[in-house]
Amino acid sequence: MDALEAFSEYEAAAIEAFRAATSAEELESARVEFLGQKKGRLRDLQKAVGKSKPEDRPVVGKKFNEVKQRVGQLLEERQAELDQPAAALTAIDLTLPGEPLVLGRRHVITQTIDEFKELMGRFGFTAVEGPEIEDETHNFVALNIPEEHPARDPLDNFYFAAAEAAAGGPVLLRSQTSTVQIRVMEQSKPPIRIVSLGRVYRPDKIDDTHHFMFHQMEGLMVGDDVTMAQLKTVLSLFAKSYLGDDVEVRFRPSFFPFTEPSVEVDVSWQGGWMEIGGAGMVDPNVLRAVGYDPEEVSGFAFGLGIERFCMRRHNITDIRRFHENNVRFLSQF
Ligand code: PHE
Repeated sequence: MDALEAFSEYEAAAIEAFRAATSAEELESARVEFLGQKKGRLRDLQKAVGKSKPEDRPVVGKKFNEVKQRVGQLLEERQAELDQPAAALTAIDLTLPGEPLVLGRRHVITQTIDEFKELMGRFGFTAVEGPEIEDETHNFVALNIPEEHPARDPLDNFYFAAAEAAAGGPVLLRSQTSTVQIRVMEQSKPPIRIVSLGRVYRPDKIDDTHHFMFHQMEGLMVGDDVTMAQLKTVLSLFAKSYLGDDVEVRFRPSFFPFTEPSVEVDVSWQGGWMEIGGAGMVDPNVLRAVGYDPEEVSGFAFGLGIERFCMRRHNITDIRRFHENNVRFLSQF
């Protein structure tokens, strides 16, 4: 019987099409195809009913209605199914875990600075700050660095030509934290025991150990009887506290305009010496420049590279990593 065969074929195709529909739009076009009144498959079936033999017609007609009803039912079921995800969204599941927040962290240089302050605090050194934009008095003159000294070469410093008039003289990004020694001594009387940690700027060519901006820790101790031996003790205590007891500190004779005698400070740790900065006894000219009497007081000063220490301890081989803001690098510390 042709009509009955057409019915089951129609029903199977409708089931398939409804199942394949994954959105309201797709289901609607399946509905038009299988249940549309004006044209489509239902109309064809109806014609088949009309063409069946008169004696078969009551049965065929009944089957037609049954199939039509079943397919209509299937459509509704599929519609309900497709509606479900939206329904789920409106119900809040209070047992779901929250969304984890990714916590930021302090930059490894900031961590190092904080740790240095803490260590030096234990030796009685108070942390103070000074400006990063300086005048020549604090960056050079009071530090006994004369006009013709190569350190004052405009090509070796970042001068602010535009700010000069407003400031009433040349201004530059400080090239060393020794500026803070002067600022502190100008404002206070001995005894002094301070450290100052911060950025310094020099137009250096960038490579794995040089950058135009890096950090220094300046130390200054001034009092009645401050000696070179105390300087060495403080530096070696500091280096041991930061790197470990297996540290050795070595002084090599050197020259800085603001210290006399001056030394270069090396640290050996886990094989190999590294240079960590300069130090020395505060030059009498510097003491005089801030109104101290070099016959009455003496002092030591040191300036250490913070990146050097940090790189050594964490085995960082390229100073540029500090400035790349790569979370995969930074999140290791
Ligand atoms: N300011 C010197 C530098 O940047 C380091 C230093 C500080 C040397 C204090 C002696 C005393 O190279």
